[in-house]
Amino acid sequence: MKKLFPDIPCIGSEHLMLRQLSPGDAAGLRELTNSPEVYRYLPTFLFEKKYADAECAIREMYDAGRKESLILGVFSDGAFCGLAEFYGYRAPLRKVSVGYRLLPQFWGRGIATKALALMVGYLFNETDIRIVTASVMPKNRASAGVLKKNGFHCVQHSVPENWGYALPTRADKWIKTAAGNPRA
Ligand SMILES: CC(C)(COP(=O)(O)OP(=O)(O)OC[C@H]1O[C@@H](n2cnc3c(N)ncnc32)[C@H](O)[C@@H]1OP(=O)(O)O)[C@@H](O)C(=O)NCCC(=O)NCCS
Repeated sequence: MKKLFPDIPCIGSEHLMLRQLSPGDAAGLRELTNSPEVYRYLPTFLFEKKYADAECAIREMYDAGRKESLILGVFSDGAFCGLAEFYGYRAPLRKVSVGYRLLPQFWGRGIATKALALMVGYLFNETDIRIVTASVMPKNRASAGVLKKNGFHCVQHSVPENWGYALPTRADKWIKTAAGNPRA
């Protein structure tokens, strides 16, 4: 059984792979963080946005002491297309939250749906996680589509949360359990 944070997995196959970023991925990460449309529906405090230098962000991402989140690169046939993140790990509840963000040129090809399937498969099959959650702005129909296609259920609508903006952000709360039933 893998531990969520000490172990940095490589998930998937050459066609669609989630793996640790390396210095060679800095240009792709820079393009992502500089894309305003990617971050339109995201919190202001995402890890990769804290660094002016993408290479530095990649180095810090895998610092051994970092436990608040695990970020993997998403690669389609070897090309960097975005990030997949595990965060908000609650060991006693065996629960974690997931996030994903892709470069716009890769949208609409089913990549996020497949990446989330790989994330959930890893969590349920190779770690002790039993509950996966996601928070999504109600306007973000694409992300809701990705979650629905992966069997997530929306269990709370429009909950005010602090996403770093001047006013609270309204978020829908989505959940998937290992049993496939949100109340299991
Ligand atoms: C959200 C995001 C990851 C979706 O990635 P994607 O690879 O384009 O998603 P998919 O191609 O797997 O689409 C899954 C489903 O979502 C729906 N969908 C996709 N784009 C949509 C849009 N613009 N409007 C409405 N529904 C949409 C479709 O139902 C699609 O299913 P289909 O292929 O059967 O039509 C991508 O748009 C993105 O990176 N956005 C910016 C970052 C972000 O908002 N991340 C999520 C934060 S919660």
